[in-house]
Amino acid sequence: MTDHPVRIGVLVSGGGTNLQALINSQKKGELKSGKIELVISNRSDAYALKRAEKAGIRAEIVSKKKLGSSEAFEDRIRSLLDENKIDIIVLAGFMAILSEDFTRAYPKRILNIHPSLIPSFCGKGYYGLHVHEAALEYGVKVTGATVHFVNEIPDGGEIIMQKAVAVHEGDTPEVLQKRVMRLAEWKILPAAVEKVCAEYASK
Ligand code: GAR
Repeated sequence: MTDHPVRIGVLVSGGGTNLQALINSQKKGELKSGKIELVISNRSDAYALKRAEKAGIRAEIVSKKKLGSSEAFEDRIRSLLDENKIDIIVLAGFMAILSEDFTRAYPKRILNIHPSLIPSFCGKGYYGLHVHEAALEYGVKVTGATVHFVNEIPDGGEIIMQKAVAVHEGDTPEVLQKRVMRLAEWKILPAAVEKVCAEYASK
């Protein structure tokens, strides 16, 4: 058993609707085995930062451009995670690939949400709207979302949860993205984080 509540750090880059789903789940008492203690954004203009602020969560900006290298970028993130004693890291729309060094430091402690049913439409180059563009181009009739542990292979870690979503005739990437978020991502991300935190707490 850990001797403290599980501390969650969320890494974001954009709108932060998945971060919001985690905040809402925590407010409802569904996400209860861990607490969001820190949000880190690699972009200063991410709306996710406003969501963190509104919820009273400490938020930090870490810019690769400003720091000058990937090493300095990851070092800064690691220091913030250490300083804030973060146990579980959630990539919620975090659009930077983390190095093998980084992912090795947190085995089974980093989760990622990906907007497709892995192993379809995942890996390098598949992020955000591109994933839905690729799904529509291929012509799949079912897509969805996946929460998985992060290891050194992009989108290659162990799957924790998945949910399927139907593709409709005439869908645009934007329409499909919204449906996948609403029907899958915002549900399975909080559920998977709760599951992992509960397991972590009982260790
Ligand atoms: C989400 O659809 C998430 O699954 C995706 O980016 C979006 C972020 O939205 N992540 C990836 O593509 C990671 N490979 P949000 O900022 O509103 O949560």
